[in-house]
Amino acid sequence: MDFNEATLKERLAGKLIGRQVHFLEEIGSTNDYAFKLAHDGAPEGAVVIAESQTSGKGRMNRVWQSPPRRNLYTSIVFRPPVEPAAASQITLVAGVAAAQTLASYCPGRAAIKWPNDVMIGGRKACGILTEMKTAGNGVEFVVVGIGVNINIRKEELDEAFREHSTSVREEVGGPVSRLDMAVQLYENLERLYARFIREGFAGIRQLWLDNTDMVGKAIRVAFRDDIKEGRVAGIDHDGALLLGNNPGETVRIIAGDATIIKH
Ligand code: BTN
Repeated sequence: MDFNEATLKERLAGKLIGRQVHFLEEIGSTNDYAFKLAHDGAPEGAVVIAESQTSGKGRMNRVWQSPPRRNLYTSIVFRPPVEPAAASQITLVAGVAAAQTLASYCPGRAAIKWPNDVMIGGRKACGILTEMKTAGNGVEFVVVGIGVNINIRKEELDEAFREHSTSVREEVGGPVSRLDMAVQLYENLERLYARFIREGFAGIRQLWLDNTDMVGKAIRVAFRDDIKEGRVAGIDHDGALLLGNNPGETVRIIAGDATIIKH
């Protein structure tokens, strides 16, 4: 079935995520567009999808390659009743939703790399960028932006990403319905988000651990000039990464970029 506003609206009828669907042919960034919509009052569950992005954004000012009609570029508006410190946990919730979705196409090969990359066979297939607006001590809204490399071919990936990135098409050996995958991702996210609101991060933590292959691995985490190395011991009750280092102590990492160290 075609991937367009009508088919998406039909498949998402009655759900929270997708109660508003903004389907665009081309936009700078779906995150920026969703941020404006949310600022102007768009309800929780409003979804923005673009067929291409001219300034797709990654974390740490990186570019997110967004060629037309290949992949999924989407941003979702949430209005969680949580404190700003807990809002970043929604990124981890989205990571679990994306990992579960990719795992249904590539069983046993999809895994989360902290904080918010989803890998297939060790190569990145999905990235998540969360942006938030606070109001006083609370959260006014959170925009969760998700990019999934679905049908892009390896030779179409920018050379800079080619070695470390992949797409679902490359991994399963043929084209994949973007409509089916998008709907599955939104459904997984809706279920996990409801659980997060009900139970807090405690309801998500084990699912996150079930969907990562990082525990026990030696990694290097860089946050600006601060670089830490150690073995992943798990994640804390609030989503911080727990890193064991030589003197036998465990440090908490709340932000950064992780690289697996291959010996
Ligand atoms: C990362 O891995 O660095 C995060 C990438 C996030 C990309 C998505 S694509 C849809 C949404 N719009 C953006 O500009 N970025 C996110």
